[in-house]
Amino acid sequence: MAKDEPRKGGRRDFLANLALGIAGLLSVGGFASRLFGFLYPVVPPEQLVEVPVATRNQIPPNGGMVVNLPTGHVAIVDAGGELRAFSAVCTHLGCIIKWQPAARSVWFCPCHKGTYDLDGHVVSGPPPRPLKRYEVAIREGKVYVKIPYRPPVLPA
Ligand code: FES
Repeated sequence: MAKDEPRKGGRRDFLANLALGIAGLLSVGGFASRLFGFLYPVVPPEQLVEVPVATRNQIPPNGGMVVNLPTGHVAIVDAGGELRAFSAVCTHLGCIIKWQPAARSVWFCPCHKGTYDLDGHVVSGPPPRPLKRYEVAIREGKVYVKIPYRPPVLPA
């Protein structure tokens, strides 16, 4: 070995390799952590929230309407004075239904012509299930509906 040549396996090499090893472990650990978070995301539980959808006099007697809210789409109907609320999302492929009374049905899905009755039951077409029903409350002239809501997941 020449006099000016750096020694192989010395303390400097050891520390450089140690630093490289630690950096490698940290980056693999960070990657593994992100991969795990991607594969098994933390999903917050769904909760019921009560939201105002309309004033009572906006819903005509024996009439219905769809209200589009940031938290979801609500179909609300006055059935002989009783207010009923449903998810306005069609149970077939998720289109938004419309109020369109016909002989046997009142809710119409424009995507594949599915229809539902006043109780949200399927009358015709491809929808496999009835509309999801929501609880309704009226206070001080306002109509409130309890809808399921899942808070958004914020990135870590
Ligand atoms: Fe409503 Fe297909 S999405 S009938």
